[in-house]
Amino acid sequence: MNHSTVKPLSVTDLSSMKQRGEKISCLTAYDASFSALIDHVGIDIMLVGDSLGMTIQGHDTTLPVTITDMIYHTQCVSRARKRTFIIADLPFMSYPTPIAAAENAAKLIQLGGAQMIKLEGAKSNIVSFLVEQGIPVCGHLGLLPQHINQLGNYTVQGKNTVEAEKILADAYQLEQSGAALLVLECIPAQLAKAISMKLSIPVIGIGAGIDCDGQVLVLQDVLNIGITKRPRFSKDFMRQAENIESAISAYHQAVKQAQFPTNDHSF
Ligand code: KIV
Repeated sequence: MNHSTVKPLSVTDLSSMKQRGEKISCLTAYDASFSALIDHVGIDIMLVGDSLGMTIQGHDTTLPVTITDMIYHTQCVSRARKRTFIIADLPFMSYPTPIAAAENAAKLIQLGGAQMIKLEGAKSNIVSFLVEQGIPVCGHLGLLPQHINQLGNYTVQGKNTVEAEKILADAYQLEQSGAALLVLECIPAQLAKAISMKLSIPVIGIGAGIDCDGQVLVLQDVLNIGITKRPRFSKDFMRQAENIESAISAYHQAVKQAQFPTNDHSF
């Protein structure tokens, strides 16, 4: 049990950050050692992402990740955390119906120690059902890695007007359904800016430009230790750092001071 006097950030703390224009830093985490380090550095949110299927398990996609995997890694992360807010991903096919979503989200919260769950796509009916049960939800629009077999490749979404208008409308609908946070992955910076301005909830971008309310990256990309090619929208913060802690700290500072991402990391 965590007897620390430091209180974890809450969903209302994140909302206040958006209201006062403070950028929100978010990084993926999958184990206790990195959780402790990321928490110590002061990152606002740790995302136990299903990207662990690629970064930790060595799969080509996130699709093989199970709810049991997600519970295990969320437990590892939450044991070592003091202040940082924890979001855990609902993995592929763990939310085909509102009931299944609620049962699996409850496991991530009750067994894993997550404070919020994230799910991919414009699934407003599932979001509103979870919110009714008292489960805080983070939406995820733009590039949806759990849809890779339909998409064919990991590419920028929302480049034409029809697609862009759909993403904007879906974002608004998710907020109306009660989502408390939204991740936008790999969309044009101008579209992400319009969404961030339209919504009252914090919008966290990855490959979505500087005007989002916060940024998230995959830990292995920040440290340049991934086993696959680092995406263009990420940055190797190890290059100018003395050690892992200073690389994570440099990422945190760059997000807080709106120095990351630059145009080189945006679309
Ligand atoms: O699984 C993950 O790490 C994610 C981020 C890329 C946003 O969903």
